[in-house]
Amino acid sequence: MSIDSPDELAALRATGRVVAEAIREMARRVRPGVSTGELDDVAAQVFKRHGARSGPQLDYDFPGVTCLSVDDEAVHGIPGPRRLREGQLIKLDVTAELDGFYADACRTVPVGRVRPREQRLMAASQSALKRGLEAAKAGVNVGVVGKAVNDEVTRRGFNVIEELAGHGIGRKIHEEPDVPNIDWDGPTLTDGLVITIEPIIAAGDGEVYMHDDGWTVKTYDGSSCAHFEHTLVVTEGAPILVTA
Ligand code: MF3
Ligand code: CO
Ligand code: CO
Repeated sequence: MSIDSPDELAALRATGRVVAEAIREMARRVRPGVSTGELDDVAAQVFKRHGARSGPQLDYDFPGVTCLSVDDEAVHGIPGPRRLREGQLIKLDVTAELDGFYADACRTVPVGRVRPREQRLMAASQSALKRGLEAAKAGVNVGVVGKAVNDEVTRRGFNVIEELAGHGIGRKIHEEPDVPNIDWDGPTLTDGLVITIEPIIAAGDGEVYMHDDGWTVKTYDGSSCAHFEHTLVVTEGAPILVTA
């Protein structure tokens, strides 16, 4: 969607605050021994308190409130009884709907102490998101954002997962345009446009496949993944971060 009134912006920001709170509350509870289902319940409680609903459930009948992906799982991991272990990386990818407005964000959190390579992987995704946010301005081709993200990831020795991209958002989870993490000739960003930027990156070559559960996307080579995401409103200057 494109924002064209202060009321719309306020409503979108309200959803963004719920998403940020859910991620914060889940992140506080990440430790060896906690199950992904328990973390999902934390998000469910935050949503309930604010009258928000799960975007993945509403739009796709996803079998969870949030998408919780561990290690070589890139995206759309299903919450369940599986318990986290020291050294793992968990991606807390949360999309909420409140009063018809959607916001989407993700943070990668280490489980206890993780290896230096995993730390560098997380830092690369986070830094690439920052570069993408700096590049996202009205009048700029969306491919410029992808190039900024991709350059930062490869500079740090990792690879983006090319088939997983950011997207327009607002009245549904996935709207136009696609926001891939690569250089391409796409549409031009416009003032007020609401998008996500989300570098989903792997320590290996970034090739992925769909797991038997029909949801979880995993790396072929078993390498770890990191993922940070924000929802933002494009402006002539610095974007408005909705999920910070
Ligand atoms: N949060 C995901 C994204 O960033 C969307 C998940 S919807 C699902 O695009 F149903 F596929 F899980
Ligand atoms: Co997301
Ligand atoms: Co997204």
